[in-house]
Amino acid sequence: MRIGFFDSGIGGISVLNEAIKKLPNEDFLYYADTLNVPYGNKTKEEVNKHVQKAVENMIKRGIKALVIACNTATSISINELRSMYSIPIIGMEPAAKPAVELSKSLDKKVLVFATDLTLKELKYKNLITKLDKSCVIDSLALPTLVEFCERLNFEKEPLRFYFKKLLREFDLNQYGTIVLGCTHFPYYKSILRDILPPHISLVDGSEGTVKRLESLLKENQLLNENGTNHILFECSSQDQTYIVKMKEALSLLQNELNLITK
Ligand code: DGL
Repeated sequence: MRIGFFDSGIGGISVLNEAIKKLPNEDFLYYADTLNVPYGNKTKEEVNKHVQKAVENMIKRGIKALVIACNTATSISINELRSMYSIPIIGMEPAAKPAVELSKSLDKKVLVFATDLTLKELKYKNLITKLDKSCVIDSLALPTLVEFCERLNFEKEPLRFYFKKLLREFDLNQYGTIVLGCTHFPYYKSILRDILPPHISLVDGSEGTVKRLESLLKENQLLNENGTNHILFECSSQDQTYIVKMKEALSLLQNELNLITK
C-alpha cells in the first residue's frame, strides 16, 4: 500500500522529496487540492471542509499512512482527522523548537515564515507559548510566496527584490535562524541563502516529519520491503497540466541548482 502525502498544492512535494530519499522501498500517493489552493488566506472553516474532503478521497484510494504535508491544514484539521481515521497520520508545524535551540547557542533570535492562517491559529500560539519563554521568536506571514511557488516562479531578480523588501524591517544581525514554516517555502532556500547573512541558518520541518513517519511505520509494522519508490500524482481539479507541474516541481527540488533561474 502507498503512503499518502497531502497539501493544498505543490508545497508538500518538498516533504515528499525527503521521504523518497529516506524510504526507498515505499510507494507514494501525492494529492494536491488544486481546486482550493491557496489555503493560507481562507477561513479556518473553509480550510477544514476542503481538507476533510481531500483526505476522504485519499483514504478511499487505500493508503497505509498519511502525511499532512501542509502546516496550515495541520494546524486546523489534524485532531479531527486523527479522531476519524485509524491509520497513522503525521502532521507538520513550523520547526521552531530546533530553531530556538540553534539560535540560543548563538544568543540570537528566531524568525518564523508561515502562512497568515498558520500564524493566527491556536496550535501555533500554544507552540510559541511553550517555547518562547524569553521572547526570541518573531513571525512573518508570506502569502504571496505560495502564489509565486504555485506558478513555478523562481526568477532570481524579482525574488531578491521581494525578499529584500520584506526583510527591510528586520535587523538580521539579531537573528540566528529562519524557520520555513510552510511547505511551499523550501523551494526558495537557495535565493534566501543568497541574500541572507551567512550566520543565519534555514530550518524546515521536512526531515523531522519524515523521521516521525518512518518511526510510526516501524511501530505499526507497516514498512515496505519491496516498493519501487513509485509516485502517483493526483489533484482535485484532475488537471493534467498540473500533474506535469508536480513532476517538474519534484525534479527541480531533486536538482536544487536548477531551481532559481537567471
Ligand atoms: N503549503 C501549505 C503550508 O505548509 C499551505 C500553503 C497555502 O495553501 O496557503 O502551510
